[in-house]
Amino acid sequence: MPTITPQPTIPPFPAAAAPPPSPLPSLGQPPPPAPSIFGLDALFHNPVFAGGIGLAGLGAAAAFGRRALIAGAGLLRRQLLVNIEISKRDPSYNWVLAWLAQPRDNRGFLAQRLTRLRSLSVSTTTKSLNPRLGDEGSSQTHADFRVQPGFGRHIVRHRPGVYIAVNREKAGTATTATGEPHETLTLTLLWAHRHVLEEVFTQAHALAQSFQQGKTVVYTARKMEWAVLGKPRLKRPLGSVILDRGVKEKLVADVKEFLAAQKWYTDRGVPYRRGYLLYGPPGTGKTSFIQALAGELDYSVAMINLSEVGMTDDLLAQLLTQLPEKSILLLEDVDAALVNRRQRDPDGYSGRTVTASGLLNALDGLAAGEDRIAFLTTNHIDRLDPALIRPGRVDMMVRIGEATRYQAAEMWDRYYGDIDEDHSGRERFLNRLEELGLFGGDSQDSNVPRRHTSTAAIQGLFQFNKGDMEGAINMAEGLIPRTFEPEAPSTEGAIKSPA
Ligand SMILES: Nc1ncnc2c1ncn2[C@@H]1O[C@H](COP(=O)(O)OP(=O)(O)O)[C@@H](O)[C@H]1O
Ligand SMILES: [Mg+2]
Repeated sequence: MPTITPQPTIPPFPAAAAPPPSPLPSLGQPPPPAPSIFGLDALFHNPVFAGGIGLAGLGAAAAFGRRALIAGAGLLRRQLLVNIEISKRDPSYNWVLAWLAQPRDNRGFLAQRLTRLRSLSVSTTTKSLNPRLGDEGSSQTHADFRVQPGFGRHIVRHRPGVYIAVNREKAGTATTATGEPHETLTLTLLWAHRHVLEEVFTQAHALAQSFQQGKTVVYTARKMEWAVLGKPRLKRPLGSVILDRGVKEKLVADVKEFLAAQKWYTDRGVPYRRGYLLYGPPGTGKTSFIQALAGELDYSVAMINLSEVGMTDDLLAQLLTQLPEKSILLLEDVDAALVNRRQRDPDGYSGRTVTASGLLNALDGLAAGEDRIAFLTTNHIDRLDPALIRPGRVDMMVRIGEATRYQAAEMWDRYYGDIDEDHSGRERFLNRLEELGLFGGDSQDSNVPRRHTSTAAIQGLFQFNKGDMEGAINMAEGLIPRTFEPEAPSTEGAIKSPA
């Protein structure tokens, strides 16, 4: 308690009776005790006041204690726990989600009580059953459900004694470029278990890859981002695409050589890029070949159709700078990027499209990504900007043309090889096509009009006549294209070739 020298302002006694006040209180005469209610001593002796102070003190101490506790807990959290936040934009987001949904061993008292995914979400993809295996007649669909942890907090047991707290949440009002709400996934582990994270990501990645084993992933542009198009498809065997003699081998060898030569490029400071242009009429196997090649190389396909509405220079450039890893860039219909293409379409639409210079810049401008294999396709080589065909943009041009005798024979063997052992059916079929003049002007007989057919049309014919050689030979006339030669139209039973 501080000693207070009272300096009474109201004299206790009449002023007249008081001795004249001395400037310094003399030590010998202690001043009279504080007599006033204004004295602090009195205040503290007041039980009501003292009780109040006590309470306030307790309150303050409690508040301080609480703060200290919170700060301490925060400190502890920071010191003892590791958080890792994964954004939906990151490729690992979906891998980790799939990994979290893996069934795991939750035996044990703690595990049983703690770890349960209480809210799940499902992502479903459907497809027609085996569209490529030849049962296109069936209208069955196959649905594939993948269960994922839903939004909110979960705890999973990674292995005995190692728990991971998971928080999946929608991040505010931010949306991804595709218009979906942005999401984050936060994994929290004990600091002591932080090495487990590497394991988690490795396992998640391996799991994602196992889903894609033997499959080809196709990415397509969705708004400003790449998005997986449907489910990964079964790899298309290269052997199933029949190009003219030597063409496929030449292309495959070139791509493989490029892939093996990365060091050569980096040593010389040359951008590690290679471009191929496949041109020719529709239905000749351009797209199919690229898909099969991707399968062969274990690459995915990142596909952009330049004739798509809404594809602009900016968007194209942006997409090309962020190609999915290990993917072949496939630019379909590059002739859509016409010089000064600003006029209205017949339907009055003058929408924004990719310009020729936009395409060139996207392919090798400053922003163009390094490390890229690009395949460009077009049905109209004559409409291309010649500047496109320049090393770095297009290094190799290959015409994928109408079906040749060689291709027709190879396709026959793929479809009827097992029942046409002596190749007599094949000879009759090829001769019939020759007779119809379907291999161009090779025929000696000048009365036969020069025309062609497409490999797609031959495939259609063979699929229609599954296991029936005679049927295929009898219907060969249907291979005569309807519109190829306007002056000699033959529409009888023509098989429409897919675009
Ligand atoms: N050379 C070919 N070898 C095998 N199948 C082919 C060939 N050409 C076309 N097809 C078949 O025809 C259809 C269309 O082929 P696609 O690759 O899309 O042709 P393009 O891209 O040249 O227009 C596909 O179903 C494909 O399997
Ligand atoms: Mg195509």
